[in-house]
Amino acid sequence: MLQLLSLLLLALTCVQGREITPAQVKARQRMAAEKLLANRAAPTSNGIKNITFSNPKASQFFVDGTTIPEVDFDVGPSWAGLLPISSAKNETRELFFWFFPPGPQGSSDDLIFWTNGGPGCSSLEGLLQENGPFSWSTGTGKPIVNDFSWTNLSSLLYIEQPVGTGFSQGTPNIKDENDLAAQLVGFLQQFLEVFSELKGKNFYVTGESYAGMYVPYIANFIYENPGMVDLNLQGIWISDPSISFDVVLEEIPALNFVNKYQNVFSFNSSFMKTLQATSDNCGYTNYMQNFVTYPPKGLLPLPGNTTRIKNSCDIWDMIFEAALLINPAFNIYRIFDTFPVLWDVLGFPGSFPDTQVSPLYFDRMDVKQAIHAPTNVDWVECSNINVFPHGDASMPSALTVLPNVIEKSKRAVIVHGLADFILIAEGTRIAIQKLNLTLIGNGLQGFQTPIQNESFIVDGMGVMGNLHSERGLTYYEVALSGHMVPQFSPKSAFHIMQYLMGFRDTP
Ligand SMILES: *[C@@H]1O[C@H](CO)[C@@H](O)[C@H](O)[C@H]1NC(C)=O
Ligand SMILES: *[C@@H]1O[C@H](CO)[C@@H](O)[C@H](O)[C@H]1NC(C)=O
Ligand SMILES: *[C@@H]1O[C@H](CO)[C@@H](O)[C@H](O)[C@H]1NC(C)=O
Ligand SMILES: *[C@@H]1O[C@H](CO)[C@@H](O)[C@H](O)[C@H]1NC(C)=O
Ligand SMILES: *[C@@H]1O[C@H](CO)[C@@H](O)[C@H](O)[C@H]1NC(C)=O
Ligand SMILES: *[C@@H]1O[C@H](CO)[C@@H](O)[C@H](O)[C@H]1NC(C)=O
Ligand SMILES: *[C@@H]1O[C@H](CO)[C@@H](O)[C@H](O)[C@H]1NC(C)=O
Repeated sequence: MLQLLSLLLLALTCVQGREITPAQVKARQRMAAEKLLANRAAPTSNGIKNITFSNPKASQFFVDGTTIPEVDFDVGPSWAGLLPISSAKNETRELFFWFFPPGPQGSSDDLIFWTNGGPGCSSLEGLLQENGPFSWSTGTGKPIVNDFSWTNLSSLLYIEQPVGTGFSQGTPNIKDENDLAAQLVGFLQQFLEVFSELKGKNFYVTGESYAGMYVPYIANFIYENPGMVDLNLQGIWISDPSISFDVVLEEIPALNFVNKYQNVFSFNSSFMKTLQATSDNCGYTNYMQNFVTYPPKGLLPLPGNTTRIKNSCDIWDMIFEAALLINPAFNIYRIFDTFPVLWDVLGFPGSFPDTQVSPLYFDRMDVKQAIHAPTNVDWVECSNINVFPHGDASMPSALTVLPNVIEKSKRAVIVHGLADFILIAEGTRIAIQKLNLTLIGNGLQGFQTPIQNESFIVDGMGVMGNLHSERGLTYYEVALSGHMVPQFSPKSAFHIMQYLMGFRDTP
């Protein structure tokens, strides 16, 4: 009896020892909120920036930052609208742009161009949900100030491209990435005639996903055609980029990814056995150990010596299908999402298109009017038509132009979110290391020394992933980030851009 009583007392003491009062919980929540707010981007330079454009045509594009629908603060001056891709009198093709001058802390000497991918997806996604001055994220009630806006670094230009994307006008006719680059450069020439004060700025070409094709080909076109565009190209950013074949970026690394995140996927043991057998049969198992060495031993073989993926070897798709059974809200762009599926004023991307009831934000008449967009276009984030009418005939950028672009750039960054499943970071490691990414310079292939774990350190946050820097290329892996790194890890993205632009010395 006595023993029982003392046991009971012991149990009570333990519970009391662990007990946190509601007031203490509230205090911790307050501390967390304060930390989040204090954890803002560091200013990079001083001085109020006040761009005015002497060409009277510029004024027709002016957007009053107090009149953007649903945005209840002043975004400041910006310029938006359509401009043609050439000066030809009969030119029917126009791209939609939205230009933001630098914010108070931004540099006046630089210009960042951002494009989303697809192909055929609108760069207004980047503006509204990734790196623009105001953000309207999934599941949230209204737009808010983006503390990590890239306008805190410099001026920022979003372009919906190629023709066929978003509000753009005209009929797509490009057959490959060189055609795409030529049209984009044609647009930039027209843009710089109207906004001529931007001529000569240091220029950065940045983008994500399928922009892993766009960005290197655009940069290569600019480097190889000097004098065509009056901007001083310094470097590129590509995040979660399509730089190689799907078998490399999706299939080979898929099972390693599931093993790493097995607590997130929660697959049953018999399905795990099926996955392992598929991986073994299809030549994916031990690929990293056998072939991805630092330095590389030579060019890597593709499984079965082919870029084609047999249905029975489409392990990525098997995983996706099974993940949806267990987690109906499974998001290939960020694997941690669970039910319910959050609404999205852009309607995409996620595993599920159109979770927003209409209208989409950029399809609202008041929004179109505020930003000089054509009111007769039904805006969707990713085009319903093929912007390459007969497909994209270009080879993956890692096999073609990327080495030259790295060679010619002051700095180049490849960035990858570690929680992205649609494209997998380990696949990018393969692409960099093995697929004849002959980083010119000294004719070497890939990185010569290994990527160190826990080497990407962000001020005020600590270890945020891994990085490696060699011969002009810096590769970053960002912890917990999904496909859209500026959205899911904005402070990391800001840090990386500071490095790319030379605003910090070390990566
Ligand atoms: C970044 O820009 C936003 C929007 O202009 C601004 O509210 C914020 O204070 C800026 N942050 C820093 C650290 O410069
Ligand atoms: C910006 O420039 C315009 C025109 O040059 C001028 O009227 C205005 O006062 C300037 N604003 C600031 C904040 O310097
Ligand atoms: C414009 O006219 C030129 C010369 O006649 C022709 O080559 C070109 O294809 C036309 N462009 C468009 C977009 O119709
Ligand atoms: C792939 O090609 C190489 C070189 O031609 C050959 O040695 C190897 O056996 C082939 N591998 C497969 C799986 O077909
Ligand atoms: C195990 O997972 C697979 C794939 O999702 C599924 O088809 C199968 O029914 C599951 N088995 C059990 C016993 O739940
Ligand atoms: C690798 O790329 C270089 C440069 O483009 C090329 O000369 C070489 O033939 C390629 N090697 C192979 C094995 O494809
Ligand atoms: C980095 O971490 C991974 C996963 O924990 C481990 O497998 C790998 O050996 C580590 N690499 C290095 C270079 O330490």
